[in-house]
Amino acid sequence: MTFAHGTHPFSTENVPALVNLDILKYLNAPVLYKDEALRVGYAILTPEMQAQVSNQAHQNRACAGFQVIDTTDIKTVAGHFEQLQSMNSKMQSQRFVHSFKTYNYDEQIQQAISQVQENRLKDDVTWMSSYKNRTHTDAQGNQVVTDLENKLKSLLQGTDIPYETEVISHNKTKQKSLRLRLIGKTKPSEIIVLGAHLDSINQSYFGNGKAPGADDNASGSANLLEIVRILSTQPQKERTIEFYWYAGEEGGLLGSSEIAKTYKQQGKNVLSVLQLDMTLFPGEGEMVIGNVKDFTSPRLWDFLEQINNMYLKIKLVDDKCGYGCSDHASWYREGYETLLPFEATTKTMNRKIHTENDVIDNRLSFKHSAVFSQLGLIFAMELSKNDSKVSIP
Ligand code: BES
Ligand code: ZN
Repeated sequence: MTFAHGTHPFSTENVPALVNLDILKYLNAPVLYKDEALRVGYAILTPEMQAQVSNQAHQNRACAGFQVIDTTDIKTVAGHFEQLQSMNSKMQSQRFVHSFKTYNYDEQIQQAISQVQENRLKDDVTWMSSYKNRTHTDAQGNQVVTDLENKLKSLLQGTDIPYETEVISHNKTKQKSLRLRLIGKTKPSEIIVLGAHLDSINQSYFGNGKAPGADDNASGSANLLEIVRILSTQPQKERTIEFYWYAGEEGGLLGSSEIAKTYKQQGKNVLSVLQLDMTLFPGEGEMVIGNVKDFTSPRLWDFLEQINNMYLKIKLVDDKCGYGCSDHASWYREGYETLLPFEATTKTMNRKIHTENDVIDNRLSFKHSAVFSQLGLIFAMELSKNDSKVSIP
């Protein structure tokens, strides 16, 4: 089989070819054999038709758009169709593997998300934004890590779930990351990751060095704490759920890139990664959130859409960062599946970040932010069920 492809593919003679049926119809070309399901027809193309087919196909970004075959014997043509059919069904079955699972409404999840409390988010953001800064190069940059670990331990007191907290040292920054691992019951080696960066930065050269980072990213950090609070009162899940408060994101994803690389090297089975970074400023209006579609994964976009229809019922707006704008990109670069829901669109996001003015003020909405704790809770609960992911080889 030859493919009309690349440099000038056209013959100066009539050629037997397999062509998209709609194009043949458009050209009024006699169709000698066809498969309606595949949308492919067999026809003899004159040189003029070849050019027209190619033209049409280019408009649909399909290169030359027809496949020349080396026979006019109808049985052999039928053989070509069989080949196409089997290729197509192979592709369909691959698509099925990659296909998106349908998730079912779960009353326990609904019950859990109703427990999210705005006032607890506000307390946690107030606390985290009260440090002079949480900058990864600062001499005091690890104070918040120590305090966060103590806070976690105290809120996990009395839980029945086996857990580990761990302070993680890095090579590229002296700031440390913090991990909480809620160990899975039947599939502990299958991991669901939820993360937020704990560091903050003041980028103004002549500034006073204050970097309260209320929105960026005490907000996402607080969202995770609230999720942990609620999960800690529930039965142990089938899979392991890991929470990260990453170091040095503002220095170039420093903590998360080391963590994701190590996990890849160790062959860890991370099924899905959620990043929460900036959840407090409703730049597109309350209950309108951005779904950042670069460095993130289609299966999880679909997951987000489904859980939104079942539980959150807010407006999702597609958006892009244009670069690896937060720690999810570290995981994505190692081949893991990621999701980044965001406070607004990048156009309408909080402009006070990276300054001393990233503080709690009346532009921020804890009601808006609470949605992200709900989203994270659903992510953790649904994906840690043992049947909740079609495994992708
Ligand atoms: N929270 C910000 C930016 C952001 C925007 C995150 C939209 C998620 C969605 C983040 O902390 C940040 O400032 N990132 C840096 C890039 C990083 C690689 C240093 C940035 O955007 O300049
Ligand atoms: Zn951030």
